[in-house]
Amino acid sequence: MQKLLEWVDARFPLIKAWNEHLAEYYAPKNFNFWYYFGSLALLVLVLQIVTGIFLTMHYKPDTALAFASVEYIMRDVPWGWLIRYMHSTGASAFFIVVYLHMFRALLYGSYRGPRELVWIIGVIIFVALMAEAFMGYLLPWGNMSYWGAQVIINLFDAIPGVGPSLSEWIRGDFVVSDATLNRFFAFHVIAVPLVLVALVFLHIVALHKVGSNNPDGIEIKENKGPDGIPVDGIPFHPYYTVKDIVGVTVFLIVFAAIMFFAPEMGGWFLEHDNFTPANVLQTPSEIVPLWYFTPYYSILRANTVAFLGLDAKVWGVIFMGLSIMVFFFLPWLDRSPVKSIRYRGWMYKSALAVFVVCFFVLGWLGTQPAVGKNVVMAQIGTVVYFLFFLLMPFYTKLDKTKPVPGRVTSK
Ligand code: HEM
Repeated sequence: MQKLLEWVDARFPLIKAWNEHLAEYYAPKNFNFWYYFGSLALLVLVLQIVTGIFLTMHYKPDTALAFASVEYIMRDVPWGWLIRYMHSTGASAFFIVVYLHMFRALLYGSYRGPRELVWIIGVIIFVALMAEAFMGYLLPWGNMSYWGAQVIINLFDAIPGVGPSLSEWIRGDFVVSDATLNRFFAFHVIAVPLVLVALVFLHIVALHKVGSNNPDGIEIKENKGPDGIPVDGIPFHPYYTVKDIVGVTVFLIVFAAIMFFAPEMGGWFLEHDNFTPANVLQTPSEIVPLWYFTPYYSILRANTVAFLGLDAKVWGVIFMGLSIMVFFFLPWLDRSPVKSIRYRGWMYKSALAVFVVCFFVLGWLGTQPAVGKNVVMAQIGTVVYFLFFLLMPFYTKLDKTKPVPGRVTSK
């Protein structure tokens, strides 16, 4: 083994990479619960790719066969149901993990300098993940797959001038059809996963260049011992590789429980309307995306007035786009002298709490019909959502912060 290792190492920087990124990569010693979700996101990414490869072996990207091929996987392919449920539960798990991973950044100011690029790459990953999920949802060719894609692609119609030709170009037809299914399949199984893997690689390279933040928001690299090692750092391997196994174990227990006992999650992970094949003549009573898109779906539907020469629908699309794009600017919107919520004042804490409540309310509204007081609530929710970001330079500057200790604490 030793000889083989030396042979490889003379030709490839194996030990150098191992040391730089694991054995001699010093991570802050106070990582807590919130730091499990990066490694879990990595686990779910691998899980989705592996189960996706096996699904592709029996799935047929053809409007005449797609729905039946999924039923075939569920009923006739040995263990097919398991692979399919792993993949469908995995999609929701991915968003749960990624949302919690992003929330951690909001708690501890992980998006702040010098980690702006880690954050920006993260936001691009988030956008790519949304595209991946949206296109994957068309593949089973259920009735909600069909109408969901129809509604979202039709939004492009509203763009003045180029709109109708743009949506036709995206679909490859005048309606969502076989051409659409085939191209979504190509993007879902190869193009977007490749981009995702590449982005995750860059995300981690960028993180390892600057080092991890931590629950105290202290830069451990600024306090090194005589040996040049941060006094508050511990080697990632074995300390965090072992700790992450705990997170993985708990995650897999919960994941298996859902997958085996409640894979549909009452319609939240697999919608009831998707158990009937796509039907051009029968629109579902309520066209609703899966839960992870509903906050943005609410923002999309919130605006009801036309202004500046653009109709209400176009503004809905613009607001939805902006509600995601605004995350890119977070590193520059936050003007607080401290990073972690532990040392921030009541203003940031309250703003974050209101934002979280608003995100859930928008999420719930996205599952309800857009009528009456639901529309008013979605409008209020949208305004609050944007105010969290737009007022951030002011309340983070005005907020009364606590002194940050010189060393990390072990709470
Ligand atoms: C496939 C999705 C993703 C994977 C596999 C992933 C992976 C990771 C890993 C392994 C870490 C280091 C461990 C940790 O700090 O938890 C990390 C850190 C980080 N990620 Fe992600 N990530 C993903 C998506 C995102 C997204 C969507 C964002 C933000 C929009 C983001 C922002 C960050 C930030 C700011 C850090 C540094 C945290 C700190 O040092 O406190 N990541 N990511």
